[in-house]
Amino acid sequence: MNPVRLATKRLVLRELRADDWVEAQRLDRDPRVVRFQSNDVLDEAGTKQYLETSIAAQAASPRLVYDLAICLPDDDRFLGRAGFKIERPEHREAQLWFTLRHDLWGKGFASEVLPALLDFAFDELKLHRVYGDCDPRNVGSARVMERAGMRREGHLRENWWLKGEWCDSLLFAVLNQEWPALRPKGEALQRPSPPRG
Ligand SMILES: CC(C)(COP(=O)(O)OP(=O)(O)OC[C@H]1O[C@@H](n2cnc3c(N)ncnc32)[C@H](O)[C@@H]1OP(=O)(O)O)[C@@H](O)C(=O)NCCC(=O)NCCS
Repeated sequence: MNPVRLATKRLVLRELRADDWVEAQRLDRDPRVVRFQSNDVLDEAGTKQYLETSIAAQAASPRLVYDLAICLPDDDRFLGRAGFKIERPEHREAQLWFTLRHDLWGKGFASEVLPALLDFAFDELKLHRVYGDCDPRNVGSARVMERAGMRREGHLRENWWLKGEWCDSLLFAVLNQEWPALRPKGEALQRPSPPRG
């Protein structure tokens, strides 16, 4: 498959590269960013290892992990990550994630990224169901998924032991057949741009 490159109104999602590690470290070492995530802060070696694993997954056949860098179109610099993993290929189901540098929160970036990811998952990859979960205290994450048209399917009680405490999860999901109706109307539908090079 050609390298993935998705466009939104203000942003581009492109394949991760090894040289993203410097900018990626800014997120990975920030306790505010990982506060409600299953991982803890990463050091330089941890970020490089993470990128290595994600980049290796780009070449897998069939490809099951789409972990993409969020950038501005006129500046290829890594601002955050968003993507999904097809966990049960036979059921065409994927789990998504999204994370941004702390100083970029509150600009509507994640709300722009999610519909583009879901368009790609349903229109290009023909997935059936995409879900995401978050700690109920992660109000921004829950709101982003809700705003992207995902339905809240449940509240799981204390299903994670993280950072010294039991944590609940909110589960959000959307199905391919309902996506056209649930897709946020404000976000212009962008087709994936042709591969470069
Ligand atoms: C979750 C995250 C990606 C949100 O990104 P963002 O670009 O700031 O989100 P948006 O600007 O698109 O905001 C979407 C909505 O959420 C609300 N929101 C965002 N962050 C919020 C916060 N911390 N508290 C309350 N509301 C918040 C916004 O006000 C907006 O609400 P609206 O639709 O009513 O206007 C970002 O906070 C982040 O990277 N967090 C750390 C990583 C993480 O937790 N990722 C999710 C893993 S499950």
